[in-house]
Amino acid sequence: MPSREETGLWFEPLPADIRKQSDIGAEVHLGALSPPILDLATLTEADKDTLRQALFENQVIAIRNQAGIDPKTLPALARLFDPTASDIHSAGEKAVSDPRNILSAYKAGRLPCAPQVGIIGSGTFKNYQGIPELEVIHLDHTAFHETPLTQEKLDAGYTRPYRWHMDTPFYERLPGDVTILHAVQVPQLPDQTISFPDGSEEQIAAGATAFFSGARAFELLTPEQQEFALNTTVTYAPQAYEYIRHCKATEDGMTIPTMGRETKAEDMSPWSWDKVAEHPMVWRNPGTDRPFLQVHGCCVYRLTTRDPSTGNFSVMDDVEQVRATVYAMQRRIWQAGHIYAHRWEEGDLVVFHNRGVMHSITGQLAQYQKKDAEDEVDDTKKRLMWQCTMTSGTAPKAFRNYDGVNETGFVRV
Ligand SMILES: [Fe+2]
Repeated sequence: MPSREETGLWFEPLPADIRKQSDIGAEVHLGALSPPILDLATLTEADKDTLRQALFENQVIAIRNQAGIDPKTLPALARLFDPTASDIHSAGEKAVSDPRNILSAYKAGRLPCAPQVGIIGSGTFKNYQGIPELEVIHLDHTAFHETPLTQEKLDAGYTRPYRWHMDTPFYERLPGDVTILHAVQVPQLPDQTISFPDGSEEQIAAGATAFFSGARAFELLTPEQQEFALNTTVTYAPQAYEYIRHCKATEDGMTIPTMGRETKAEDMSPWSWDKVAEHPMVWRNPGTDRPFLQVHGCCVYRLTTRDPSTGNFSVMDDVEQVRATVYAMQRRIWQAGHIYAHRWEEGDLVVFHNRGVMHSITGQLAQYQKKDAEDEVDDTKKRLMWQCTMTSGTAPKAFRNYDGVNETGFVRV
């Protein structure tokens, strides 16, 4: 195992029965030289290198038992993986409250002492970190899927991934290299079940965060698809989340199957092309040389593909066709063996490589927030988490560099 010395920071991949073929997941042990709660000031340069290695090789790393961590440690830790990270949460300086943006449905607040750290979860909390009353809503697939699970299935404990995504608005701000999550309070609820297209089922913790690896997604492509992906640039929809505000997803949460409900340009907040996100379809991982298929299937708008033999570019700008093309590539990953679903424990500090995985909410937690006869909600069924994701100062790098490749992160006008 990689380690500075016997008592220093070290990591180990999660057990094989949990990782399966996902290529995701490692546990970091701070070691006897560190205090039990992460304090970056105590880490040596070698420790920091080990942390970076752990993340970029495993995409999701967990440090257990971090209850009581200083909120300001989260943005500082994010900068260890991305020195160009700005001090701005990737959803903007304030919590999203614009009703035109579907991300506002989370009702997420921010920690007053660390505005880069959002508060997410399920339930109402009083006098939390200087916030008199905080309400956080756990979104689930019933709000976003074209055909949600039936009440019978929900009652039987089934759930689905809500929406596979990277943490970024695809407008004006670049995706952060990492997102950091910290479980302050974890609800005590029975496991839930996910079904896969091949008929298999998987038990996951209620409210598990699900991940799949962009590297694994790339490996699952045919050689022709890999070549197409390596030569393709993805343009996202202008004000992508406003654009899909009235759209609904497939049952795997990966794409939008029906056209016609997209928000028209004149009904969106003011926008300009130079702020619209545009990225290569396949990204180079900073820590390894593997190609990562990183594309948000719900927010895509246009594909520009280079013919390597002529250097000419062709454009696919029919959104329905664009979505279908991306979905045909990405959907292969939707198998039990390729998904890592993090089972939250109180105190967990999880860092994930936002440019190396797609992730999704799972679980049906909101149903446990109904008040009883005494007008109370069972505290053991509430969830509270911190989330730190900061806009990067550097755009993702293309895996294949060619004349005309766009690595600016935005449409060139
Ligand atoms: Fe997210």
